[in-house]
Amino acid sequence: MEKLDVHKLFSQKQIEKRVEEVAAQIDKDYKDLNPIIAVVLKGGFIFASDLVRKMEIPFTLDFLGASSYVGTESSGDIKITKDLNTPIIDRHLILVEDIVDTGLTLFKLVKLLKQRDPKSVSISAMLVKDFERPFDLKVAYPGFWIPNKFVVGYGLDYNEQYRGLTYIGYVEPE
Ligand code: IMP
Repeated sequence: MEKLDVHKLFSQKQIEKRVEEVAAQIDKDYKDLNPIIAVVLKGGFIFASDLVRKMEIPFTLDFLGASSYVGTESSGDIKITKDLNTPIIDRHLILVEDIVDTGLTLFKLVKLLKQRDPKSVSISAMLVKDFERPFDLKVAYPGFWIPNKFVVGYGLDYNEQYRGLTYIGYVEPE
């Protein structure tokens, strides 16, 4: 398999410090609210596992899988490949993602989940690509803002490679 150079963006130490800050903010905002932490698979699992271990408030953990239909990126239709097991009606939901790129997956996901009448839905993403999006997607708990590069590590893959890296870097595929 093709082996690419990974150019480091954030070290394990920098990530750890930032995750701690995000967890503290969530603790503060969701005190006594017992939110559902919904991990968006696959990429969100490493960020989520670090995040919840830094959090001090009670929460319910669940997992969600979604994929965009290939070839219809502009319409952004999504398919739930693994649904939540927890009813979210009248609960506060925090979606935990690896990265917001176009943001279409999350935008559609939020819309769909709101039909189930949760009390609130917010988003935490370890990385947010820094560019204007044609729709309103608020990432209340971002880790880092990054340039528009293809990033890997800390749960993020390139063809299923590099997910296990402890740091975050970018690759430049041919
Ligand atoms: P979206 O374009 O924001 O809908 O991103 C959908 C999914 O594509 C993300 O949850 C990631 O799993 C994946 N993705 C987007 N950009 C990158 C990247 O730079 N590296 C690795 N995966 C990415």
